[in-house]
Amino acid sequence: MKKTALITGASSGLGYEFVKLFAKDGYNLVLVARNGKQLEEIKQSFKNIEVTVILKDLSVLGSPKEVFEEVEKQGINIDVLVNNAGFGLMGGFDELDIQKQVNMIQLNVSALTELTYYFLQKMKDRNSGRILNVASTAAFQPGPLMAVYYATKAYVLSFSEALVEELAGSSVTVTTLCPGPTKTNFGSVANVEGTKMFSQAMASDIVAKKGYEAMMSGKRVIVTGAFNKAGTLGAKFMPRSLTAKIAKYIAGEK
Ligand SMILES: NC(=O)c1ccc[n+]([C@@H]2O[C@H](COP(=O)([O-])OP(=O)(O)OC[C@H]3O[C@@H](n4cnc5c(N)ncnc54)[C@H](OP(=O)(O)O)[C@@H]3O)[C@@H](O)[C@H]2O)c1
Repeated sequence: MKKTALITGASSGLGYEFVKLFAKDGYNLVLVARNGKQLEEIKQSFKNIEVTVILKDLSVLGSPKEVFEEVEKQGINIDVLVNNAGFGLMGGFDELDIQKQVNMIQLNVSALTELTYYFLQKMKDRNSGRILNVASTAAFQPGPLMAVYYATKAYVLSFSEALVEELAGSSVTVTTLCPGPTKTNFGSVANVEGTKMFSQAMASDIVAKKGYEAMMSGKRVIVTGAFNKAGTLGAKFMPRSLTAKIAKYIAGEK
């Protein structure tokens, strides 16, 4: 019987790259995002697997539970959960729109947490499952001018690593993917394309493949790219006041 992966934020960027990787390995898919036209086009492009589209704004309170209930209603077992949907915003904390920042917390943090909660129960019941949570290299230090975004990703990493320990000895794995700047729609949504940090953005297919392989091998955390690996390692040894200054510097214009 074919396995099924649920991917949030499947309509573009890393999410779409995950879609292609799972499809290549014969997984059926449940795709979640807001852009219905895009998701239907993706669905039509795969003939040999079952693709279910769930249109949902995951920044809306209660929406993760609705996704879970829809999957249950359709009798689909989720073998792999990819919590990928997320966005960032560049700007001073008190200058950015507060509702957009709250929506970011709801999507990057709350939806990821809730979806993990519902599907983890089912995976534990079946004693099998994989979860891939997409964090960022932003998880490793404070991020002035993207303060809320960096904090959401620190949460994702901390939460996911804690679950690894809670699940030790079970057959459910949790992997955290920490990409650095990557060529997707993220840069334009967050308004960071003109910054120093985005001058070395990686290709999305390479980043997704690294994350996919790490998840399949049950790895705990994967940071993509040698430069990003060195940066996150350095951040572990530097005072946080210094890492915050560096993060502020690279958030500046090229
Ligand atoms: N690209 C980078 O530089 C980078 C670096 C580190 C980490 N990341 C992380 O990688 C993940 C994927 O982002 P990406 O780079 O692939 O960017 P992207 O191309 O903008 O993709 C974001 C995805 O999230 C979905 N999404 C956004 N808001 C949503 C909402 N309210 N409800 C449901 N889905 C929503 C979008 O679909 P719809 O618009 O159709 O809803 C889209 O499919 C994010 O968690 C991001 O933080 C990205």
